Amino acid sequence: MGITYKDEQGIQGMRTACRMAAEVLDHLTEHIKPGITTREIDRLASEHMKKQGSISATLGYQPSGYPPYPASLCTSVNHVVCHGIPNDKPLKKGDICNVDVTVIKDGWYGDTSRMFIIGDASIAARRLVSVTYDAMWHGIVQVKPGVRLGDVGWAIQKFAESHSFSVVREFCGHGIGKNFHEEPQVLHYGKPGTLEELKPGMTFTIEPMINAGRRDVKEFGNDGRTIVNKDHSLSAQWEHTVLVTDTGYEVLTLSAGSPAPPAFVKG
Ligand code: MF3
Ligand code: CO
Ligand code: CO
Repeated sequence: MGITYKDEQGIQGMRTACRMAAEVLDHLTEHIKPGITTREIDRLASEHMKKQGSISATLGYQPSGYPPYPASLCTSVNHVVCHGIPNDKPLKKGDICNVDVTVIKDGWYGDTSRMFIIGDASIAARRLVSVTYDAMWHGIVQVKPGVRLGDVGWAIQKFAESHSFSVVREFCGHGIGKNFHEEPQVLHYGKPGTLEELKPGMTFTIEPMINAGRRDVKEFGNDGRTIVNKDHSLSAQWEHTVLVTDTGYEVLTLSAGSPAPPAFVKG
């Protein structure tokens, strides 16, 4: 299937699903502190989805070659890059944890993730989290008709590497709509002026995974899912779903509890 362009009705559907995904993160925020397990975070999220009338897109999700994913969200702690499976290990002061929520509402998918700093963390960890947030936004502000995905990837890569961090290559953002993962792939590195041209009605995620050390990753253990950093350095990730409008972009995964955009973002 190629890229899908959403009409006004599709955009409304996406707005609702995306806001709900963000509101799950809002709900979790006060609970995410030292001592909570990622399994408890998963339970709280599942409960909130039920209450808001959405369903988890990850629970039972099974791309070809993978076992069905067993949880309502992904929790990736410290050197885990992405797709961490919730477990019974309590989070401790100084950890950093990505919580990635994807919900389905009326057939539409909304996908967003945030970083949580547990208690307080080292300066190095906080810097990685904040540079990764800004890197995502450097990609987002590129988005408008006529721009190419290579411009988005380059903006993210240039910013992350200017802080001596590295961009994970094996995973990328993705088109999203009535399917979880649609075309196009949204690389978080690249060359200006290359790849797909953005057009109004496209919806896709921008979700850079940035490593404090080298960019290489590997599969961890035997759960068939969890991805870790080869060099065990810290990894961070943030994710928004965005719409290409006639004049620029609309971030769809915003909610009352979303962190403010960085100062360089206008309007
Ligand atoms: N939400 C992730 C993304 O941003 C995908 C999770 S797939 C799972 O694309 F199987 F690990 F849940
Ligand atoms: Co996600
Ligand atoms: Co995604």
